[in-house]
Amino acid sequence: MKKNKIILAIETSCDETAASILEADFNHAWPKIKTLSSIIKSQSNIHKSFGGVVPEAAARAHVKYIRPIIEQAIKKSNIPLSDDRRQVVYDKIFNKIDYIAVTVGPGLQPSLIVGVEFAKALSFALKKPIIPVNHLAGHLYSPFKDKGLKIKDMFPMISLIVSGGHTILVLMKNIREYKVLGQTVDDAAGEAFDKVAKLLNLPYPGGPEVSKLADDGNPMAINFPRPMIHHKNYNFSFSGLKTAVLYHLRDLSPKPLALNAKADICSSFQQAVVDVLVAKTLRAAKEFKAKSISLSGGVAANQALRKELIVNCKSLNVKFMAPPINLCTDNAEMIGLAAGFMLNNGFKPKSYKTVKATPNLQL
Ligand code: KG4
Ligand code: ZN
Repeated sequence: MKKNKIILAIETSCDETAASILEADFNHAWPKIKTLSSIIKSQSNIHKSFGGVVPEAAARAHVKYIRPIIEQAIKKSNIPLSDDRRQVVYDKIFNKIDYIAVTVGPGLQPSLIVGVEFAKALSFALKKPIIPVNHLAGHLYSPFKDKGLKIKDMFPMISLIVSGGHTILVLMKNIREYKVLGQTVDDAAGEAFDKVAKLLNLPYPGGPEVSKLADDGNPMAINFPRPMIHHKNYNFSFSGLKTAVLYHLRDLSPKPLALNAKADICSSFQQAVVDVLVAKTLRAAKEFKAKSISLSGGVAANQALRKELIVNCKSLNVKFMAPPINLCTDNAEMIGLAAGFMLNNGFKPKSYKTVKATPNLQL
């Protein structure tokens, strides 16, 4: 009987500085992974005025926050700390860590470097190995936090990852084997949400703002294109849809637009994105005789997308899985979860000497 392992997970691939402590029990085919703490420091206030993430500013903020965020994660994990003996106790807790999991890519190079180099320094000091985690694997495994389903009802699974940087459709044959079926050829779904928000002068990050306004609009008001919806492959394209919104706005008057006009644009745009994502996911589910569909990534927080997938899964008699909303956008907990599944699948931990930031890493 192997003893439970403690994982410190670090995520700095974009504009969230995040750390999490997890406890993993590997005595089962499906690892039991408990989150002891998860801390996220969002930098959206820093990037708001620029309307998007500024890599250099993001890296500087990661440098500032990474140590306090890891300390907070340690403090919040259920291991008690006494303030007067803080250093001694920290040392004790650090000694309980078995693995340091860190996002190595994909992401912004200056941001990734901060997390990876911090993890390597810790690994050197504590003599504990590193689990280099693909950020997209973090999203992919994030729905598995509370399994909810029996393994026999899960695979084959079609997984849709929709974030600010990626839109990927994956076939998961089982818990360790997966294959990318298709991905976006230009903008990611979240990027399209953010760009449409910018066109409408909504604050950054735009996805939640567009989806909030969409609730008050008519999804059929404007017939925006559904790019590649009938293409036989599983790729996506969202840049034409964003341009269609731009042209639609150019011809509208009076300006500035009334709130209800903006709401109709948001709602119709969101419907176009949802229609394409759902159509392709369902087609893949039918082709590969999937028993379940999972949804993850920042755009998985979108209620319209979740609802439409849930309804369609019911009529197809396919199970549906998605992480809780706080695990959709970037966090370190999902990086620790992915590391736990990697270890359970037989992954050999790495020395700090061989780990490096890989901005263009593929799933
Ligand atoms: O996964 P994530 O935090 O970062 C990346 O890995 O890219 O995803 C962030 C993306 C942003 O584009 C954001 O606008 C989008 O997720 N997003 C949403 C919603 N919440 C976040 N998009 C649509 N509806 C939402 N409710
Ligand atoms: Zn992400």
